Amino acid sequence: MPVELLESWSIGPVVVPTRIVLAPMAGVSIQAFRRQGRRFGAGLVCSEMVSAAGIEHRNERTFGYLRVAADEHPLAIQLFGAEPRAMADAARLVEAAGADIVDLNLGCPVKKVTKTGAGAQLLEDHALACRIVEAVAAAVSVPVTVKLRRGVEHGSRACLELGPRLVEAGASALTLHPRSARQMYTGEADHALTAELVERVDVPVIASGDVTSRAKAIEVLEQTGAAAVMVARGAQGNPWVLREIAEGEAFRPTREEVAAELIVFIREAARELGERRAAGFLKKFYGWYLGHGRFPKPFKQELVQLQTTEEVVLRLLAAAPAAAPLVERLEADLPAPEDEVLLDRLPISAYGGG
Ligand SMILES: Cc1cc2nc3c(=O)[nH]c(=O)nc-3n(C[C@H](O)[C@H](O)[C@H](O)COP(=O)(O)O)c2cc1C
Repeated sequence: MPVELLESWSIGPVVVPTRIVLAPMAGVSIQAFRRQGRRFGAGLVCSEMVSAAGIEHRNERTFGYLRVAADEHPLAIQLFGAEPRAMADAARLVEAAGADIVDLNLGCPVKKVTKTGAGAQLLEDHALACRIVEAVAAAVSVPVTVKLRRGVEHGSRACLELGPRLVEAGASALTLHPRSARQMYTGEADHALTAELVERVDVPVIASGDVTSRAKAIEVLEQTGAAAVMVARGAQGNPWVLREIAEGEAFRPTREEVAAELIVFIREAARELGERRAAGFLKKFYGWYLGHGRFPKPFKQELVQLQTTEEVVLRLLAAAPAAAPLVERLEADLPAPEDEVLLDRLPISAYGGG
């Protein structure tokens, strides 16, 4: 039977309207990225990983990651940590903030994270990983999901043993990025392993890794029997790839469309992060958006040199004046800011961690 990308599926009671999931990416998956992803056809979007310890210590930057807008749902907020109680407390807060799903990170290969026993390191401590899932599943009423790599070392198959145990511990879905932590992002994702995991568990599996086109999405779904594909690097500065995967037609945006999307993204990022942080955060996005032969190379260099986001917006409008009405249309469709959940508007009890 042909694979249908626009079919809905479910994680526990949460209905996901398409079989395309926008990946969690640290330094990328801010709210503006997630809302845009939903608009372009992702059925589920994820926050970047949020530190359970940061939540425990009421770190202001960490709290900033937990803002939820009306048009993001369904939304998974991802937590990382190695301490079951802290993870459970953080999960309660994330649920109160409006997450439809709490996702747990068992894949981050970065030393700063693994040396604390968190992220991919948990692929080597199955008992602790299961205790974390149990504690979090007991703490919240929304589904708990886990995103894992294949294992720590090259060629590891740890995920196949651990996956079913995580499900037994309470995970309602698993995402597999079948590279080892050692591999980081090199080589290819080995989706033969994803197919094996699908065979071993009776919950939905999301296939992550190297999905950058509709053809690849269909190939991975057919090869693995996964419930959905996850798109990460392919969607950086390129939300149109989500539309292509969802709707089947290769979509080459015009310059005006690219400029309009980037302008809305810049303004939303500035609103979300504040001008100072946004100005630095956004620089990598300029190359991502303007590449693909959409704008001449020196133009990106020019934007990166500008100091404020408003200067960048003005420069984009000068280069593509017909983007202005598109921006207006896109902004008119954004929900009112008062529909957004910010943590300082949550009841005090949500912070209590009790
Ligand atoms: C910049 C970047 C940041 C990432 N951050 C996270 C993260 O916070 N949590 C997570 O589970 N995976 C993270 N990932 C992994 C992706 O979600 C995804 O599994 C991986 O990139 C493979 O998919 P791709 O080939 O489509 O990029 C990150 C990847 C990238 C490139």
